[in-house]
Amino acid sequence: MQQLTTRHDLTRRPRRLRRTAALRALVRETRLSPERFIYPLFVRTGRGIREPIGAMPGQFRFSVDQLAGEAAELRNLGIRAVLLFGIPDDKDTLGSGAYDEDGIVPQAIRALRDADPELVIAADVCLCEYTSHGHCGVVRGGTVQNDETLDLLARTATALAAAGADIVAPSAMMDGQVGAIRRALDEAGQTDVAVMGYSAKYASAFYGPFREAAGSAPQFGDRRAYQMDPPNVREALREIALDVQEGADLVMVKPALAYLDVIRAAREVVPVPLAAYNVSGEYAMVMAAGERGWLDVRAVALEMLTAITRAGADTIITYFAKDAARWLA
Ligand code: PBG
Repeated sequence: MQQLTTRHDLTRRPRRLRRTAALRALVRETRLSPERFIYPLFVRTGRGIREPIGAMPGQFRFSVDQLAGEAAELRNLGIRAVLLFGIPDDKDTLGSGAYDEDGIVPQAIRALRDADPELVIAADVCLCEYTSHGHCGVVRGGTVQNDETLDLLARTATALAAAGADIVAPSAMMDGQVGAIRRALDEAGQTDVAVMGYSAKYASAFYGPFREAAGSAPQFGDRRAYQMDPPNVREALREIALDVQEGADLVMVKPALAYLDVIRAAREVVPVPLAAYNVSGEYAMVMAAGERGWLDVRAVALEMLTAITRAGADTIITYFAKDAARWLA
């Protein structure tokens, strides 16, 4: 035995620091904290409604009156931030529900602000939930018009800010959207409202369950002419640089899991906080496998969130937020 050790030179043994739970915790490089989570909330009209979302077990569409209870639960769990998505009753070609000052999301923001003055309220800025065609901007001749859409996104952002949002998060992938929104917010005197750019948002198949949840699937074509092409990473850095230049306070990479290399590349160069969106399809896959007994949901979800953090995300938007907060407690 003595001979074996010398022959293999085992004076270096990385296993020494893995021997007990306390040793592992002592040298752990990445830690998860519920303070870093942003919990997405879907809001709809009606009263007393907590409607389960089929492809996202454990997630619901809430009516506005249900939000105070939800805010209390989040506070107890140590989750201090939400990201709001609205599901309007009516849609039209110009997505006017998005920039209605009394629309569904402004109502939700006021209810949450009343329930918890310290909650960080972020709201998605996009038209796809509000347009009859399901695209993220104004459509003319079958294509989404960039510059015309900017005015509507800016109006949406100011309506959300007026209702009390802390952060507005443009996700439409229109060129110049961060700058247009920053300018409109400043002109409206909303200089303290932050902009989180969905800077590197890919045209991903992982958004499927979200589109069911929000009723926002495009009615013709797809989003590949405005969302990013999945094979590209240098382009993501360019998108992020443009958003920072236009005044983004935070930037985002989305989805997260299939794009950990993009998160890492961004982390190396961006000067502002970096968010990653652990999207609906990433959640649905784990939940579906868990229901079949094929995966341990708890272990897999925590491993995924750890990987996203290790890759370099400062904050994670995740449907696992509440469960993860319980598991980490
Ligand atoms: C709106 C938007 C989408 C998501 C966030 N904002 C859908 C899309 O771009 O089609 C997806 C979030 C998720 O899948 O969890 N544009």
